[in-house]
Amino acid sequence: MQTKSGKVKKLKGFIEVPSDKSLSHRAVMLGCLCGGKVKVKNFSKGEDCQNTLKIFRQMGVGVDFVDEKNFMLNSKGLTRPENPLYAGNSGTTMRLLSGILAGQDFESQIEGDISLSKRPMKRIIEPLRLMGADISSKNDDFRAPLIIKPAQLSSIEYVSPIASAQVKSCILFAGLFANGKTKVSEPYKSRDHSERMLKYLGANIETDGLSVYIERSKLEPKEIEISGDISSAAFFFVAASIVPDSCIIVKNVNINPTRTGIIDVMKKMGANVEILDEKKVCGENVADIKVCYSENLKGITIEGEIIPRLIDELPVIAVLASQAEGETVVKDAQDLRNKESDRIKSVVREFSKIGINIEETQDGFVINGKTPLFGGKEIDTYHDHRLAMSAYVAGLICQEPVVINDFEWVNTSFPEFLELMNNLIEE
Ligand code: S3P
Repeated sequence: MQTKSGKVKKLKGFIEVPSDKSLSHRAVMLGCLCGGKVKVKNFSKGEDCQNTLKIFRQMGVGVDFVDEKNFMLNSKGLTRPENPLYAGNSGTTMRLLSGILAGQDFESQIEGDISLSKRPMKRIIEPLRLMGADISSKNDDFRAPLIIKPAQLSSIEYVSPIASAQVKSCILFAGLFANGKTKVSEPYKSRDHSERMLKYLGANIETDGLSVYIERSKLEPKEIEISGDISSAAFFFVAASIVPDSCIIVKNVNINPTRTGIIDVMKKMGANVEILDEKKVCGENVADIKVCYSENLKGITIEGEIIPRLIDELPVIAVLASQAEGETVVKDAQDLRNKESDRIKSVVREFSKIGINIEETQDGFVINGKTPLFGGKEIDTYHDHRLAMSAYVAGLICQEPVVINDFEWVNTSFPEFLELMNNLIEE
C-alpha cells in the first residue's frame, strides 16, 4: 500500500500513544510463566505483539478477552506446540522466547518473515549453548528458523559484547529455568523492562550497575498494566518540533530512564519539550510529554552510552537533525545494521532522496542541516515500520508530498499511527 505524506499547517492537541511494544511482549511471556491468572491491561495491537500472544496460545495458554487490548491469561505451564511458532517480523519475540523455550521439556521451532530470517541469532545461540541449551539454526547459518530441544540448563556468567536488551532478556529468561545464579553484564545499560517486570512478579533478581543476577524463581500472578510506547511517541515529538506553530501533548508515555535518550537528545538540540505529571505504573515511570515547535535546533554528537537508550529512534532523529543548524553525528550505532532493515543504509539512501544532507559511516551517519526538504519522491521501506513512519514525519515539511511504498509495515508496531497523526494535523 502506498501512502502520501505532504505539508501541513501545524500539529495541535493531545493523543495517547499505544502501549509499549517491549512491555507487551514481556507481559505475555512472563505472565504465562506465573502459573495462574494474570490480567493484562492495555496490550499492543501491533502485529509483533499479537504474534507473541498467538505463540503462547499455541502452547496451551488460555486467554479470556475483554477486548483485543485487555485480557486474562490463564496458564498452568506451557505445552508442546503442534506446529512451528511464527514470530513474524519481531526480533524481540524470537530472541526472548528462545530463552524460555530452552528451559522447557518439549521440542519447538521458531520461524520468522523474510526480514527476521536474515537477522543474526548467534548473539543468543552462543550464550544459550553455554548454559547447556540444545538450540540450533535449521540451515546452520545462525539465523531463523531455530530448533530448540529439551536440555538441563546451568547458570553462567555472561559478558555480553553488545548492549542489547534482547540478548540480556533471553539469558535472564533462561536463567529462570537454570540451576544456580546466572549473571549477565553489558557494556552499556540497555532497556531494563525485563528486570523490572521480573522483580514486580517476585523473581529472585538483582541489579548491580551493568550486571544483573537471576536465580530459578516462582513468579506470582499479578495484574500487569502496560504504559505508552516512547518509541511510538517519538514520531509525534519530532513532528511537533519541526512543523511551525505546533504544540502537542502525548499522554501516558513510559519514561523508563533506559528509554529516554530521545528526550535527552531533543533537549540538547534545543527542542521545546516538557515532562508533565510523572507517576509510577507496575514498576515503570510514566508521564505526559508536551512538545512545541522549535525554530532554533542545533546539531549535536550522539554516541556511547546513550545509543541503546534511543536505538529505535535514530531514523526519526535523522529527520529532526535535518532541521538543526550544523552537524549531527551519530556514532557507535553499528547494531542499526541488524534491525528490521540495515537502518544505516536504508535511512541514508531514502532520506537523501528528499533533500536531507546525510552521509553513511560504518557505525552511524552524519547529517548537515538545516536543509529544506523537497520531497516529490517515492520512499522504499524495506520491511521496516520505523523507516515508514519516519518518512511520513519528514513528508510533513516537504515542499512536494512524498509517496511511501509498502506503508502497511507500520502495522507491525503501530496500526493506529495514521489515525493519531490525523487527529493532530491542522491543514
Ligand atoms: C527491544 C530491544 C532493542 C530494540 C527492539 C526492542 C526489546 O533491541 O531495538 O526494538 O524489547 O528488548 P536490542 O536490544 O537487540 O538492541
